[in-house]
Amino acid sequence: MSDAALVIEGLEAGYEPGLPIVRDANLTVQRGEIVAILGPNGAGKSSLVKAVAGLVPISKGRVLLNGRDITRTPAHRMVFEGLAFVPQTENVFINLSVAENLELAAAIVKANRHERLEPVYAMFPDLLRQRALPAGQLSGGQRQMLAVARALIAKPSLLILDEPSAGLSPLLVSQVFAKLREVRDTGITVLLVEQNVKSALALADRAAVLVEGKERIVGDSADLLNDERVAALYLGRHTGKQADKQLANQVVGESV
Ligand SMILES: Nc1ncnc2c1ncn2[C@@H]1O[C@H](COP(=O)(O)OP(=O)(O)O)[C@@H](O)[C@H]1O
Ligand SMILES: [Mg+2]
Repeated sequence: MSDAALVIEGLEAGYEPGLPIVRDANLTVQRGEIVAILGPNGAGKSSLVKAVAGLVPISKGRVLLNGRDITRTPAHRMVFEGLAFVPQTENVFINLSVAENLELAAAIVKANRHERLEPVYAMFPDLLRQRALPAGQLSGGQRQMLAVARALIAKPSLLILDEPSAGLSPLLVSQVFAKLREVRDTGITVLLVEQNVKSALALADRAAVLVEGKERIVGDSADLLNDERVAALYLGRHTGKQADKQLANQVVGESV
């Protein structure tokens, strides 16, 4: 039995029967790791994490969480399995206050709200200060922090986030990423989709590049930072060498 936090095995998933978006995706996330999923727009990154979280139908393969098969567990049951998912958008209730957002998260898992809110406020003192404010009035960075805080109320073993840095300034990205590192240091495994490739590789222990629904490069972040295919694709390290372009094309196919 696998000791991994998450195993994605031969996963095929999509929105319509016979039209898979995720195609034979494989990824293992060890306990206590931060792993980033990178890849071009439309590669299927969101579809992959949504399929894992029970939000996109799976046609083949399986998903194991701490060795337990959670394939096709309905999305609303995932928190009880220990998986919390923070979607890219609409991840807080903008008309509810910060406190109400957190209290609702506690109510969903039928937990004592004082017992659950206290450690989360300790980790997010800004949210404690702004607890009476409607979530819609938070800054982009604070709203993202609230989305993470909401997810932590369920005490997940695995936290999955879809582009937590989207739309944030570089300073706020570094603040959100620092918080994710803190989350990991409390023993929670973190899997995140990212467009900010450089910051993501600085944050993550390992990363996978997904192209056309399948992982094409998987490795330690440090190795990926020095990978010429990744450099040619994302890091703007244009050497002008034809070889780099060919390497990139091998990864992305002819579509990019
Ligand atoms: N709700 C949906 N219904 C049908 N197709 C979708 C839906 N969401 C995404 N897709 C399609 O799935 C493909 C991958 O999208 P997505 O997973 O959002 O990629 P990424 O997150 O890597 O940008 C795209 O071709 C997109 O058009
Ligand atoms: Mg996406």
